[in-house]
Amino acid sequence: MDAALYDPAGGFFARAGGAGRVDGDFLTSVEVGSLFGALLARAVDGWWDQLARPDPFLVVDAGAGRGRLARDVLRAGPRCAPALRYVLVERSAGLRAAQAEYLPLEPAELVLGPAVPPEPDEEPVAVPGSGPMVTALEELPAGPALGVIVANELVDNLPFRVVERIAGDGWNEIRVAEAPASAAAPDGLPAFAEMALPADDGLAALADRLVEGHDIPVGARLPVPTALVEWLRSAAAMLRRGLILVIDYGAPVEELAARGQAGWLRTYRAQRPGTSPLEAPGSQDITADVPLEGLRRAAAGAGLSVLAEMTQGDWLRSLGVDELVEEARAAWHGRAVTDLAAVAARSRVHEADALLDPAGLGAHRVTILGRKV
Ligand SMILES: C[S@@+](CC[C@H](N)C(=O)[O-])C[C@H]1O[C@@H](n2cnc3c(N)ncnc32)[C@H](O)[C@@H]1O
Repeated sequence: MDAALYDPAGGFFARAGGAGRVDGDFLTSVEVGSLFGALLARAVDGWWDQLARPDPFLVVDAGAGRGRLARDVLRAGPRCAPALRYVLVERSAGLRAAQAEYLPLEPAELVLGPAVPPEPDEEPVAVPGSGPMVTALEELPAGPALGVIVANELVDNLPFRVVERIAGDGWNEIRVAEAPASAAAPDGLPAFAEMALPADDGLAALADRLVEGHDIPVGARLPVPTALVEWLRSAAAMLRRGLILVIDYGAPVEELAARGQAGWLRTYRAQRPGTSPLEAPGSQDITADVPLEGLRRAAAGAGLSVLAEMTQGDWLRSLGVDELVEEARAAWHGRAVTDLAAVAARSRVHEADALLDPAGLGAHRVTILGRKV
């Protein structure tokens, strides 16, 4: 999965072709329109207040793609703007290169570093009120910082391992092997096949902890979110105090086991479900629902507390999406259809429908984690 998505020479995100575009391979809340970013800006202001309005206040947008969410948050004019240091973190070089189209990026040392020495021989200090400033990095910045990390549809793209329950409460790992040469594609590229092997002790222990207290039937498969554990540990380590917002597809392990692999492992190509993840690696997105128990356990292991868990629909309502929609509806009905403001208002109503859809984006799981808050 890591190679298929991120290999610099042909991984799906490295190619940056469709990823993160309205006409691309998948549609996230960010690509629906600017409403999601406007609501996130409200949440960010709430967290700034909660942290006693630090300046500088770091907001890290992890898996930032082309930077559209950052642009929408900044355009919404959050109250914290004078303190805001917004850091886009994106692994794909192609997508990082596209961010400058949306945002005025500044050098990281200017945005992250305390810049001004008060007197010769003294430690540099940050200049208050110099935000908003935006920068882009390939990896999470070094901490410790006061702020929040936002991960919208990042963690379902972090590589996971796949286990299958075998008799006697054990596990096999489902690995990817090269298929016999006779199965190779006409262009000579190798074909891949599943291979079941006994899970090593470390993976079996992780899988056991993931399903603790649940009965998983023989033959059921589950994703073990190994890269998520690493990512949350690094994210927690960069926060002196702050919050981490994780929004993604997710479900309890028993539900994932019952759905079967085809119900939690998805691929996307040109905004439609793709084919087997083993087919033409690099040509499609590969994602898996996050097992909620795995997320909670990884958070606890990283020293984070779970402050809230809810659906995206409920979270956006708590941020006032309904009143924004009512305002937009009123603006739309009061104007001529050719009026630009009316068109924008009508679009906002449709965006809200998509973001709240209980059979779609509205069902995404929102988890808010805290470090020393
Ligand atoms: C599904 S896209 C979501 C983009 C954006 N957050 C949105 O909601 O539209 C996931 C993004 O995360 C990036 N990514 C994956 N692993 C990453 C990591 N460890 N650090 C930073 N970015 C990563 C991918 O390259 C991709 O651009």
